[in-house]
Amino acid sequence: MTETGAPQTGARVLSGMQPSGDSLHLGNYVGALVNWVKTQQQYDAFFFIPDLHGITVPHDPAFLRERTRNTAAQFIAGGIDPERSTLFVQSHVPEHAQLAWVLTCITGLGEAQRMTQFKDKSAKEGTESASVGLLSYPMLMAADILLYQPHGVPVGDDQKQHVELTRNLAQRFNHRFGETFRVPEPFIPPVGARIYDLQDPTTKMSKSASSPNGLINLNDTDKQIAKKIKSAVTDDGTEIRFDRENKPGVSNLLSIYSAVTGKTVPELEAEYEGKMYGHLKVDLAEVVVAAIGPVRDRAAELLADPAELDALLAKGAAKAREVAAETLQTAYEKVGFLPAAAPTA
Ligand code: TRP
Repeated sequence: MTETGAPQTGARVLSGMQPSGDSLHLGNYVGALVNWVKTQQQYDAFFFIPDLHGITVPHDPAFLRERTRNTAAQFIAGGIDPERSTLFVQSHVPEHAQLAWVLTCITGLGEAQRMTQFKDKSAKEGTESASVGLLSYPMLMAADILLYQPHGVPVGDDQKQHVELTRNLAQRFNHRFGETFRVPEPFIPPVGARIYDLQDPTTKMSKSASSPNGLINLNDTDKQIAKKIKSAVTDDGTEIRFDRENKPGVSNLLSIYSAVTGKTVPELEAEYEGKMYGHLKVDLAEVVVAAIGPVRDRAAELLADPAELDALLAKGAAKAREVAAETLQTAYEKVGFLPAAAPTA
């Protein structure tokens, strides 16, 4: 590993992203997807859509199905190359649920109850009605990871605790039953590509935004994008300067600009010296449309041929299963399950 936790070239990485709405948003795109796309150039990359995690809270079946396909299309449209990387849907690889059970049995109840995401989400659901699935969410995530023996797991800050638990479970299993799993490193992208809500620039851009105008979706029309940026909250004063503390609105616009164009924030500050917020917004709308418009259009093309898309995902699942099945078999043997003999005629 290098200092940032980035594994050596050629090493394996794995990540998943749970789509919380009917489309990925700009925060998912610049915060994760763009990073994944870079990752696949250097690493043996596995990316998947965690639909099993999608039922840990109440959900609509038709919506889940549609959203799973949509997300796959957006991943590919955003640059995940299904030939180079292994791209698949979690429920297509039954080993995830199978290993999750084993890991659930070596996790302490208190340990699971202490996970921050569980505490937040169960508080939202009401602790009595929160599902046991929500409590087991991190063990399923650990299974997702450990099945593939990855060196690194590219995740955002919010998932770091889950990767930490994964490491603990891997070490615990190895210690109790013998060396089985590689202990993976969290691989937090170094770039501060954190995008905030356009209407409330002190909270992260997320589906649970209080106003739909706060987030830009990857399937928004050019017009919607421009409108949302135009109505973004700015700050007192007129100066275009990065200052998260005192100018969260303008700072967020600069971050987005920087993330989609690759220009640095100081470059942008110099470029916009003496100009007005309105200028910045008009230009920003243009560069955001230029960056995500083609992704939206490509995703729509892919979705127009769902059979072809499903075939790509089937290929990915088959590739994933080759690795997952081997790890599961080892784990099953180590834990003491009697191997099933081949049936005789
Ligand atoms: N929990 C992650 C999220 O909310 C998604 C996820 C599930 C994941 N399994 C994973 C991420 C394994 C990395 C590795 O986005």
